[in-house]
Amino acid sequence: MIRTRGLTKDFPVSRSQTVHAVRGIDLDIAPGELVAVLGPNGAGKTTTMRMLTSLVRPTSGTAEVAGFDVVRQPAHVRRHIGYVGQGNGAGHQQRAADELTTQGRIYGMDRAAARRRAGELLEALDLTDLASRKVSELSGGQRRRLDVALGLVHAPELLFLDEPTTGLDPHNRANLWDHVTRLRGEHAMTIVLTTHYLDEADTMAERVVVVDHGRVIADDTPEALKRDLAGDALVLDAATPGDAARLAALVDRLPGARDVVVDGPRVSARVASGATAAVEVVRAADRAHVPVLGARSTTPTLDDVFLALTGRSLREGPGAPDAPTAAADAAA
Ligand SMILES: Nc1ncnc2c1ncn2[C@@H]1O[C@H](COP(=O)(O)OP(=O)(O)O)[C@@H](O)[C@H]1O
Ligand SMILES: [Mg+2]
Repeated sequence: MIRTRGLTKDFPVSRSQTVHAVRGIDLDIAPGELVAVLGPNGAGKTTTMRMLTSLVRPTSGTAEVAGFDVVRQPAHVRRHIGYVGQGNGAGHQQRAADELTTQGRIYGMDRAAARRRAGELLEALDLTDLASRKVSELSGGQRRRLDVALGLVHAPELLFLDEPTTGLDPHNRANLWDHVTRLRGEHAMTIVLTTHYLDEADTMAERVVVVDHGRVIADDTPEALKRDLAGDALVLDAATPGDAARLAALVDRLPGARDVVVDGPRVSARVASGATAAVEVVRAADRAHVPVLGARSTTPTLDDVFLALTGRSLREGPGAPDAPTAAADAAA
C-alpha cells in the first residue's frame, strides 16, 4: 500500500539555513496494516505524511501510495486516500452534515449520494444527533470524529490520521480509537497515524515506526520493540546523593544489572526481574545501613525503547532539541 525509498524533505528557511525535516525514510506498509508513527515534536511525522498524501513535494527519494507515484500521479493518490490533518480547520459556521455533504460533492458525488454518505458517516461516528449542529459548536472530541468522517467520505482504502487524538481527554481518545478500529475492521482499511502518546501507540498499533530527527530509528510491533530491551527498569530513591551512590554500588553487584545511573538521590538500572532485584537490593541496603525511601520496578514501555535508542525521553516534550517553533508549526 505504501512504499518509500530514501524519502527526503529539506525546507530552505533562509539563504544559509536548511531544515532537514525528513532524512531518507524507507517504509513498506502492506494492505490492512494499522501503523503508528511515533516520535517527538519536530521529528518529521507531519512532513512525511504530507509527502505521502502528495501535499508536499519530496526533495528526493520516491514514494508510491496505493500503487501511484506521489510526484507523478498526485491526483490518483488523492483519490485512493483519506487524510485528516493535524487540527483540521473544518469550516466553522457550516453544519456538521453540510460539511460532510460538501466534501462528498468535492469528490464528485451527486447531491443525493453525498447526503446519503453523510448520513452513513454521521451514524458510523456517533454524530447523528449532532448533524445540524454548527461545527464551531462541537466539542473537541466530536470535532475530531467529524474530521475522521470527512476523511472517509470517498471510502478510501488508505486513511492517514495526523495526531488524531492530540488534545483529547482519555475518554475521548478511547472513543475515537473505538471508532477507528471498528471502521477499519468493517472496511479492511489500511491506517497510518501519527501520535506522540506512547501508551496509545503501545496499546493500539500493531506496528510502531519510531522516528527521530527525520529518520526511522525502529520499526516493529510494540511487543518486539520492548522485548529487545530485555528486562525491567528498577528505580530506587535514597535520602541523599551520597546514599544513592552507595545504593548504586549494591545494584551493580546484582547479577545481570546494567545501565546503572545515579541522578541526584535516585538510582535507576535495568535488571532481569525488577521484583526480585528490588527485594535483594533493599535487603543488602538494610545490611549496609543505607536507608531506601522507595523502590519500584516497571516493565519496559515504548518510552524506555525511545530512551534506549536516543538517550532522551519522549516525555521531555517541548524541551526536545528539535522542537519546532510556533511559526514553523503553523507553516507545516
Ligand atoms: N514549511 C516548513 N518550513 C520550514 N520548516 C518546516 C516546515 N514544515 C516543517 N518544518 C520543520 O521540519 C521539522 C519537522 O516538522 P514536522 O514534520 O511538522 O514534525 P512533527 O510532525 O513530527 O512534529 C521541524 O523542525 C519543523 O520545524
Ligand atoms: Mg506533526
